[in-house]
Amino acid sequence: MIINRIKESKIHNIDFGKLPFGKVFSDHMLICQYKSGKWHTPEIRPYGTLSISAGTQVLHYGQSVFEGMKAFKSDAGELLLFRYMDNYRRLNQSATRLSIPVISENIFKTGLKELLNLDSDWCNKEDGYALYIRPFIFASGECIKASASTEYTFVIITSPSTVYYPKAIDVIIEEHYSRASRGGVGFAKAAGNYASSFYPTKQANRKGFTQIIWTDAKEHRYIEESGTMNIWFRIGNKLVTPELSDSILDGITRRSIISLAKKRGIEVEERKILVKEILDAYHQNNLNECFGTGTAVTVSPIDSITFNSIRMVMAQKGESIALKLKKDLQDIQKGRIEDTFNWVTFLKEI
Ligand code: COI
Repeated sequence: MIINRIKESKIHNIDFGKLPFGKVFSDHMLICQYKSGKWHTPEIRPYGTLSISAGTQVLHYGQSVFEGMKAFKSDAGELLLFRYMDNYRRLNQSATRLSIPVISENIFKTGLKELLNLDSDWCNKEDGYALYIRPFIFASGECIKASASTEYTFVIITSPSTVYYPKAIDVIIEEHYSRASRGGVGFAKAAGNYASSFYPTKQANRKGFTQIIWTDAKEHRYIEESGTMNIWFRIGNKLVTPELSDSILDGITRRSIISLAKKRGIEVEERKILVKEILDAYHQNNLNECFGTGTAVTVSPIDSITFNSIRMVMAQKGESIALKLKKDLQDIQKGRIEDTFNWVTFLKEI
């Protein structure tokens, strides 16, 4: 690996008390090029611009995938990675669907280790902070023929982060636009999935909603995701979340919440959820909670769901399961409780 270190860290210019999500970047980045049928030696260099020509394929056809994962500082100041190999596997699944060559475990692991060794100071130790890690791969060949590229660039950048949504959000059920269709790329972290969500989300923002609840593309009768999060409902005392399909992202936080809820003896159902079922539960005063899960948001409570002109405010009977599970998750991520699931890796162990 080639390592070019920054001359002077920018960290002293950063106000960690005011961190907007995704706008502050750590000192270094990892870059690795795919050319002539193979990935070449990765390089770490100071974070900064990438030089690409106007004919670069990703700019025209959007052939690009990414991951979102997090590292945390333990109370003793050690850097811990959360389920990072799950992100590695999902990156390659997304890459395969987008006809992008997969990254070897060795490049991913050693690149990440060296990068985090250099920039671990960017992860604040206080509660609520993490280092958000963004690996991505894009088509970097120069060609505007509509075909898969022969050249790619793999990059890892990191960004110190804190709370994504400072309070519970209000969402609206989308009945016209779709995020993903059967046979499409909804299960993958393809850049284009996010691009196509911005216009409908802006329309919802104008009406006062933070996010959309996406429904199935065919009939708009089944719930799929909420914004960039997997979605959960507490109906009575049972947790329900849409079952995975090729139009739903297999969220790593989603998987973690399923395990943590089961460990607490909470009943969890992964299945199709009709919009009508949510309306019925609300009318029966049985819709107790709703929340979203994702790497960036961790667990984010949803206060109200609007469908047509009906605003469903959560009944919130009993203690919030979302907040309990969020705490369980954060305690594992910070290394505060026993990691019975083997989700956490010390940086020094990579
Ligand atoms: C994540 O939770 O990491 C996401 O992918 C959301 C991101 C688009 C901010």
